[in-house]
Amino acid sequence: MTKRFPNERFLSGNFAPLRAECDAPDLEIEGDWPEDLAGTLVRNGSNPLFPPRDKYHLFSGDGMIHAFDIAGGRVAYRNRWVRTGKWKLERDHGRALFGTLGNPLTSDPITRGVPFNVANTNVLFHAGRLLALEEGNPPFELERGSLDSLGTWDFDGALEGPMTAHPKIDPETGEMLFFGYNVGGMGRPTMSHQVVAKDGRLTRSDRFEAPYASMVHDFIATRNHVVFPIFPATTSLERAMKGGPPIAWDAGESSRFGFLRRSDPIDAIRWVEAEACFVYHPMNAFEDGDRLVADMVRYDGAPGFPTADGGRPDPRHAEGRLERWTFDLSGATDDPKIEIVDELLSEFPRLDERFAGLPYRHGFMTSTERPEGRNAIFDQIAHVDFEAGRVARWHAGEDHLVGEPIFVPRAPDAEEGDGYVLSIVYVGPENRSDLVLFDATSIEAGPRARARLDLRVPNGFHGNWIPA
Ligand SMILES: [Fe+2]
Repeated sequence: MTKRFPNERFLSGNFAPLRAECDAPDLEIEGDWPEDLAGTLVRNGSNPLFPPRDKYHLFSGDGMIHAFDIAGGRVAYRNRWVRTGKWKLERDHGRALFGTLGNPLTSDPITRGVPFNVANTNVLFHAGRLLALEEGNPPFELERGSLDSLGTWDFDGALEGPMTAHPKIDPETGEMLFFGYNVGGMGRPTMSHQVVAKDGRLTRSDRFEAPYASMVHDFIATRNHVVFPIFPATTSLERAMKGGPPIAWDAGESSRFGFLRRSDPIDAIRWVEAEACFVYHPMNAFEDGDRLVADMVRYDGAPGFPTADGGRPDPRHAEGRLERWTFDLSGATDDPKIEIVDELLSEFPRLDERFAGLPYRHGFMTSTERPEGRNAIFDQIAHVDFEAGRVARWHAGEDHLVGEPIFVPRAPDAEEGDGYVLSIVYVGPENRSDLVLFDATSIEAGPRARARLDLRVPNGFHGNWIPA
């Protein structure tokens, strides 16, 4: 019999999993919902099917997709678990079989040969396929309307190894660019770089050696460059086999950025050294003459990860702030110029994706004035106007939490920033969630409309808009 989930930080409050799948065909709308908005908002997140066998990690729960189908002023909701091999094996046995993050030392021997894939980090649509992504595995394909699980998608056998949950879609070519890390096994510094054409064919696949093995969550792609950022959240199988942390903050290492012109062969990567820090997510990056500008939420250490000798995580390492890093592409200097864009704790930086990798004006993110930002809990949506040099915010209210802000253009050819921002907001006092819609460039005016759910959508990770 399944017992209650343990009272851990990332299994309580609105981190607690939703233990149901359902369809809500017609949500109640409050406010002025735009009649002509048509498409689907999909979002992924950790939602463990069973209570964990050992200490839970936020990244370790089974993926659950939440989808809002929007058309003609109506909003329908559906949620489904991503039924990976791991999920099915545990469902068939009625209990958790894998240790946290797939730790072999705490997994049931019955799991041997089944990949630890929770497919919980991101979900996006490219070349006709809806893909649930998690950085330790290849993509997992879902049926677009029903969210039924279809299975691992390896680009017709062309993809070997894992794929980041943060590929970049080039708005000019329609290509999807991505990378993988720990290729060939945990703790190996081998990485991969791939390009998938607009039609879904994998057209480039390279391997390279990073300066050291680390957790690489996201990367940078601009019109002519890709950049692989390596931060000292080191991975080590040897350390893990001795009972130490598989991923640890190693302050003795520097950060490295591997620059590659997209038209160059992989061995042309040039590595630039920078101060030890950690970034989960860039907001965007672009080229400006012989400079490359990257806006990133920077932490002073790897949030929530212990030190290499097993020491407790430093809570100050969980404070992320948006910075602008300017790199010299000419090679004249290695030292990037670093400027703080916003002082508040923030995460989930996004943009009008039609400007991904290009010069841009508008960014969106979650932020907070409270220390809860250290626990990946945010209560504000922020709009960063780089041209005006101003950050506008909306505070969701006491005991309300906001999710990643996702931009939707008003029309395919609308000006940058002309459109809406969607965010799933947890209404704590009522223990349920709303899909909240803003006019993107007047976030501070508050929501223009809300679609009301009777249930709560647990705090999650990333999502995307799929136009109808
Ligand atoms: Fe992420």
